[in-house]
Amino acid sequence: MLRGRIYKLLFGGLAISFCSIAFVASAKAGEAKFVSNAGCKCHMSKGCFEGEEYKERLHSNTWEKRLQGTADEDNPECLKCHATAVDKKISKKFKDKKYLPNVQCEACHGAGDEYVKLKKNYKGKGKDAFKKLLKEDPLLARKEQYDAGLLVAGITSNTVKEQCLECHWESADAENKCPKTDKVMDYKEYFKKDDHRDEDDIDLVIKKLSDADKKKWADILPKDDMLYLPYRKH
Ligand code: HEC
Ligand code: HEC
Ligand code: HEC
Repeated sequence: MLRGRIYKLLFGGLAISFCSIAFVASAKAGEAKFVSNAGCKCHMSKGCFEGEEYKERLHSNTWEKRLQGTADEDNPECLKCHATAVDKKISKKFKDKKYLPNVQCEACHGAGDEYVKLKKNYKGKGKDAFKKLLKEDPLLARKEQYDAGLLVAGITSNTVKEQCLECHWESADAENKCPKTDKVMDYKEYFKKDDHRDEDDIDLVIKKLSDADKKKWADILPKDDMLYLPYRKH
């Protein structure tokens, strides 16, 4: 009995890691280029929660506010936390740019140009095809998004906090911290403030998934319990 259980655990673990290897290998994350918030304009439009809220957050203007016009404007040591796409592949539209200012959507969600292509003409079926897929088969739509390189911490990584800690710190003597402030992240508070989820078709589908489907789609379901918190009302 016990041996059976151990075997199952081992086998289950192997199957899961095999799946994630296959999943990662199909992602185009490495090929995608950064397009800036302009490429996320559907989300930035009026009435759209991500964009509206984002504009009020300091992520959206931290470069202008803290670095622009100072000696550190182009200092890579500062840009790694106050800017996006530092030394990464940026769309040709931004000729010669070595970075994009501020903590833009893509700083956390990955370079977006492959996703933009998908949205414009999914499988050569025109501009409404992806919208249709989002309605009809939200899980497949999400897989396509992630295969195109999109990320959400807590789905593509084990926890959301890992991502925040790339630029934040939880103790005043942390090594990776801003030399200009002693503020420390209170993770729960910061998550709450930055939380920009809302209930989409996919969230309704996820709630009703069978155990078999949960296994099938494990790679694109939230792993982090924070992502199962109730949505904020707005
Ligand atoms: C490890 C990431 C990181 C690095 C590196 C970094 N910053 Fe910051 N910086 C932050 C964060 C995060 C905050 C806000 C902290 C908070 O609100 O919890 C901040 C805040 C600031 C502030 C506002 C301080 C205040 O309290 O008014 C200034 C100014 C600033 N940074 C400038 C710089 C400059 C200049 C550099 C390079 C010399 C730099 N930062 C490097 C992450 C970083
Ligand atoms: C690419 C770097 C980067 C990452 C990743 C990052 N932050 Fe920040 N964050 C900053 C910087 C820089 C500031 C400082 C803004 C300022 O004061 O100019 C900041 C400030 C904040 C603030 C306070 C400012 C406000 O608008 O109220 C919150 C809250 C916050 N971050 C939450 C988060 C959370 C939650 C995560 C993880 C999901 C996260 N951040 C990930 C760079 C980052
Ligand atoms: C500091 C990192 C960070 C930045 C900047 C950021 N996001 Fe997010 N985003 C996350 C994380 C983490 C989640 C999942 C949990 C949450 O909402 O905080 C998420 C969730 C989402 C979701 C899923 C929402 C849902 O309904 O489930 C969308 C869509 C999204 N972000 C779009 C955007 C757009 C558009 C921007 C720019 C305007 C943006 N994000 C900026 C980290 C970020």
